[in-house]
Amino acid sequence: MILSRTQLLTAAERFGTPLYVYHAAELDAALARVQTAFGDARIFYAMKANPNLTLLARMRAVGVGFECVSAGELARAEYVGAGGDGVLVNGPAKSPEEYAAGARLGATFIVDRAEEVRLLPPASRALVRVNPALNVSTHDHLATGAKSSKFGVTPEQAPAVLAALRAAGHDARGLHVHIGSAIRDASDFSAAFARLADLRVETGNLEVLDVGGGWGIDADLPGIAREAWAAAGAFGARLWVEPGRYLVARAGTLLTKVVGTKRTGRSFLLTDAGMTELLRPMLYGAEHPVTALWDGEQQEAWDVAGPACESGDLLARDVTLPAPVPGALLAIGEAGAYGASMSSTYLTRSRPAEVLWTGTDWQLIRRRETPEEVWAAELSVSEPVLGA
Ligand code: LLP
Repeated sequence: MILSRTQLLTAAERFGTPLYVYHAAELDAALARVQTAFGDARIFYAMKANPNLTLLARMRAVGVGFECVSAGELARAEYVGAGGDGVLVNGPAKSPEEYAAGARLGATFIVDRAEEVRLLPPASRALVRVNPALNVSTHDHLATGAKSSKFGVTPEQAPAVLAALRAAGHDARGLHVHIGSAIRDASDFSAAFARLADLRVETGNLEVLDVGGGWGIDADLPGIAREAWAAAGAFGARLWVEPGRYLVARAGTLLTKVVGTKRTGRSFLLTDAGMTELLRPMLYGAEHPVTALWDGEQQEAWDVAGPACESGDLLARDVTLPAPVPGALLAIGEAGAYGASMSSTYLTRSRPAEVLWTGTDWQLIRRRETPEEVWAAELSVSEPVLGA
């Protein structure tokens, strides 16, 4: 399900670049694939992947809940009308404001360390996050279930934390695991789920097993689902899942304009988007497909570099493209997850606009920021600074 070149050119013409474009039909298709694979598991969208309110509202309308990791994400969940059973509050270092917001919404807390037993609001619903201490097939920064990572309690500690929660009057419903993101190898999930199922002996039956997200966009969902259901079955539990990337990555494309070229040590194709719009290539060495929206023979390999004053500001390395045409467009694919959501105002750049192809037209779902909006919070501090 891809957008045509004409559709993309029209969007760039109408809304300018850099521009994030999303395809509603592909969003729906990804959700349908998850629902088909996981049956009646409860889905909590990890909104960090893309928290655009329009996307959240669409998901909320079809019964998807939200996994939130900050007061801001909780405010978004509340804004689109989510609450109660539809919200998870996660994070290794939750703030008092986040506990309060979670309590107000009646959310379920993912307990990440034993000390949280006394930090939780009274009579909270809770799951205990277990770190299965596994090495997983992803970038180090994206692995969260390794022994050295900061998340969760050890499998050995988990039964005691569940018991302590209950003793403190909380509704401890079960266990949670999330081993990382963009995981390539399905056996990583099997290993993690099996590690949890081992705890059945000590915990007895549980109401909920939450197996997180982390599925790469090419993941074998039916295979992962089978293993997840087997683990949930061991506890007699309902299954909860928290996909982020899988639901939105493919539906999103970053459109950027060719500014020009230069040849120094390497051949650079310079674009109007870079690390401030899509940080993943720089931060994780992530490879996003790059497509030229102009014609010509695929001729030469280019490093696609952004406008920032940093050498690491690259969107892609060594991509073979037709002879560049200044002003023409490049489409950077699989950018719907952790693209816009990790964009920044570094260099006082305005974060890009976002548009959604609804099937009949483009809908503007976030307008481009203005420089005044980027610095607005500084002005409210003290006028005298300006006059000094
Ligand atoms: N659940 C928990 C507890 C998580 O920490 C995460 C992601 C998810 C679910 C969703 O994972 P997903 O299905 O999206 O892989 N910025 C990185 C990704 C960081 C993910 C952090 N946690 C990137 O650009 O790849």
